[in-house]
Amino acid sequence: MILKFSSLIALVAVAVAVHTASASIAATCSDGTQVPDKMCCNFIPLISALQNTLFMEECGEDAHEVIRLTFHDAIAISQSQGPAAGGGADGSMLIFPTVEPSFAANVGINDSVDSLTPFMSQFPSITAADLVQFAGAVALSNCPGAPQLEFLAGRPNATAPAVEGLIPEPQDNITSILDRFADAGSFSPFEVVSLLASHSIARADKVDPTIDAAPFDSTPFVFDTQVFLEVLLRGVGFPGTDNNTGEVESPLPLTVGSDTGEMRLQSDFALARDPRTACFWQGFVNQQEFMASSFKAAMSKLAILGHNRADLVDCSAVVPVPKPAVNKPASFPATTGPQDLELSCTTEKFPTLTVDDGAYETVIPHCPDGSMTCNDVRFRVQAVDY
Ligand SMILES: *[C@@H]1O[C@H](CO)[C@@H](O)[C@H](O)[C@H]1NC(C)=O
Ligand SMILES: *[C@@H]1O[C@H](CO)[C@@H](O)[C@H](O)[C@H]1NC(C)=O
Ligand SMILES: *[C@@H]1O[C@H](CO)[C@@H](O)[C@H](O)[C@H]1NC(C)=O
Ligand SMILES: *[C@@H]1O[C@H](CO)[C@@H](O)[C@H](O)[C@H]1NC(C)=O
Repeated sequence: MILKFSSLIALVAVAVAVHTASASIAATCSDGTQVPDKMCCNFIPLISALQNTLFMEECGEDAHEVIRLTFHDAIAISQSQGPAAGGGADGSMLIFPTVEPSFAANVGINDSVDSLTPFMSQFPSITAADLVQFAGAVALSNCPGAPQLEFLAGRPNATAPAVEGLIPEPQDNITSILDRFADAGSFSPFEVVSLLASHSIARADKVDPTIDAAPFDSTPFVFDTQVFLEVLLRGVGFPGTDNNTGEVESPLPLTVGSDTGEMRLQSDFALARDPRTACFWQGFVNQQEFMASSFKAAMSKLAILGHNRADLVDCSAVVPVPKPAVNKPASFPATTGPQDLELSCTTEKFPTLTVDDGAYETVIPHCPDGSMTCNDVRFRVQAVDY
């Protein structure tokens, strides 16, 4: 009796193993990519369409803005307010382009909404919700050092827009930011800091309306840990006008023409120093792999807010492999150094880092190729990459 029972278990185990193995290579796309479901193959032509007409294979403004959209679409959901408040990662920004994009916290998001809208009719089998998250994964792959994001497909189209008030803003205090993330998707403070790795490749255009594309670190076209270091440095000035809402002094404010000085968001400043998050923030400095894998894990959660993982198909195999990391350790930008660190986490040892050469503050380039005029990047309507 016992024998029979255990052999039945063994049989079930074999059946499960066979099912899993066949499920992971159920189809081969025309380019040879093996996927668990042939619907994944629909995303392959979308990659070249996005790269050739929007991103130009660069981690530039358009890539930054679409990555911002993945967050603003997904976070609009609330466990406490219930399903009517928002559907999470549901593409509601694209389906109802006059509603959420007009909310103050989404200022400038219409640029990425306008950029992605033509792909809805060009790829009718792909829902708006899948389009937003997949385009974000493609955009991120253009940023050296970024992780290859998980991509699950099969989100239905949104049926209603989200309500206002669900997008965290840079002027919000840490309690309300952490509460909002917990309410949206049970994100822990560590996961919130992990998602902020996106500020490594982000620039703000609306926090200070007098300047465009003010970067949050000195390397806005590379997914590296500089933002976690630079936000810990003593602020010395503002890149444009002083003291805009949601802004505090930055360590590198020097602005020359369209090469805009670094901008610091009040929320980043506070997260880097708050007892609930400071050690997580400091812990990412010069930890490229750890930062990238933590961001990937938190994005896996964000990208399916409002959906059950089990209802979706794992199409991660079609996500482009990101450009490799530049492998330059984190370093203090010229004119700054360890004396400028404002460390409030005392339990973690701070890494020993070199100081970049130079007697003057480095000018942060406006374009991914280091120039001031980026021909292949459109600056139509500006966005706050937050
Ligand atoms: C996009 O939003 C900005 C700021 O909210 C607004 O000035 C602009 O007119 C909008 N553009 C379009 C095309 O809707
Ligand atoms: C999703 O909605 C868009 C806009 O209404 C529509 O064009 C598209 O066909 C829908 N996609 C699916 C798969 O239902
Ligand atoms: C944080 O912001 C919320 C919402 O504005 C406010 O109710 C709360 O009092 C603030 N908390 C602190 C500690 O300032
Ligand atoms: C900015 O605001 C802070 C806080 O209100 C104030 O202490 C500081 O002097 C202001 N800075 C400038 C340059 O106006």
